[in-house]
Amino acid sequence: MVDVETFIPEAKAEIAEAIGDDNAVIALSGGVDSSTAAALAYDAIGDQLTPVYVDTGLMRKGETEQIRETFEYMDSLRIVDATDRFLDELEGVTDPEEKRHAIGEQFIREFETVAREVEADYLVQGTIYPDRIESEGTIKSHHNVGGLPDVVDFDGIVEPMRDLYKDEVREVARELDLEEIISERMPFPGPGLAVRIIGEVTAEKLEVAREANHVVEEELEEYEPWQALAAVIGKATGVKGDNRVHGWVVAVRSVESRDGMTARAQEIDWETLQRIQSRITGENDTVSRVVYDVTHKPPATIEYE
Ligand code: XMP
Repeated sequence: MVDVETFIPEAKAEIAEAIGDDNAVIALSGGVDSSTAAALAYDAIGDQLTPVYVDTGLMRKGETEQIRETFEYMDSLRIVDATDRFLDELEGVTDPEEKRHAIGEQFIREFETVAREVEADYLVQGTIYPDRIESEGTIKSHHNVGGLPDVVDFDGIVEPMRDLYKDEVREVARELDLEEIISERMPFPGPGLAVRIIGEVTAEKLEVAREANHVVEEELEEYEPWQALAAVIGKATGVKGDNRVHGWVVAVRSVESRDGMTARAQEIDWETLQRIQSRITGENDTVSRVVYDVTHKPPATIEYE
C-alpha cells in the first residue's frame, strides 16, 4: 500500500518540476483518478493548469453539476458542453470498439481545442497502473490512455499516479480532502454510458441508462460494490396496463473487485433486487424488464461493451 504522506509531496514536486513555468491541461472526467490527479496538479502549479471537463452527454446523472461544485475553486476550470456533437458522432455506430473510437476521437477534438487556446505545453493524466496493463494487452482500447498525446503536440506527459492501484488512489483522494462523492465513487468508464448500451447510442436509450444507473447506485450503496451499473441490453415484450409493449431490457450488475481485472458478481438480496426492478420499470414507461447479471469476470467483462 502506498504511503500517502510521502506520496503526495513527492507527486506534487514531480509535477512542479516537470512543468516548470509552462502551462498544462488535464481532462477531468469526474472519476476518482482524474479528480485526484487534477487536485494534485492544481496544488502543484495552480492556474498554470487548466482542468477541462467535457460533458459528452454520456455522464452519470448530476455529474456535471457535481464537477462544477467540486472544482469551482480552480479558477482555470473549463466545462465544455459537447452533448450534441457526441450524439452526432455516435449515430449509426453499433460496434463496441468503433463506439470507443468515435468517442475517443471526438473527445480529442474537444480537448485539443482548449489545449490550443490555453497554449498548453504539458498534459497531466490520471492514468493508474491497471490502465497501463490493460492497454498494453489487447483486451480493450481504453480511450483515456494512448490517444491524446499523438494529436496535440505536447512537450511532455505527466502521470503522477502511474504506479498506483485504485484503492491507493482513493487513499490519496481522502488525504487531499476530495469530497466523498468523488473519493468513494465507483469507477466509471471513460466512454461513459455508451458502453452500458448495447448497439447504437440514442438519446432515448441514454436517458433510460442514466436513470437506471442512478437507481442502481442509490439502492446498492449499502453493499459497497466495487462497481454497480445498469445497462440497456435490448428489447423484449412486456405488459404495461392493458397493453403489450416492446420495451427496453435493463441488466443490473454489481461486482466486487480489487482492480477491475477480475471481478465477482455480488449476491444481492431479493428485496433489494425487487426494489430496483420496481423503481426502474416504474420510473420509466419504456422499460419492460429488469434482469440481474450473475456472471463473474472472467468469463464476462464488467461493462457490456
Ligand atoms: P471491463 O468491462 O473491461 O472493465 O471488465 C474493467 C474496468 O475498466 C472500465 N472500463 C473502461 N474504462 N475506458 C475506461 O476508461 C474504457 O473504454 C473502459 N472500458 C471498461 C470498467 O468500467 C471497469 O471498471
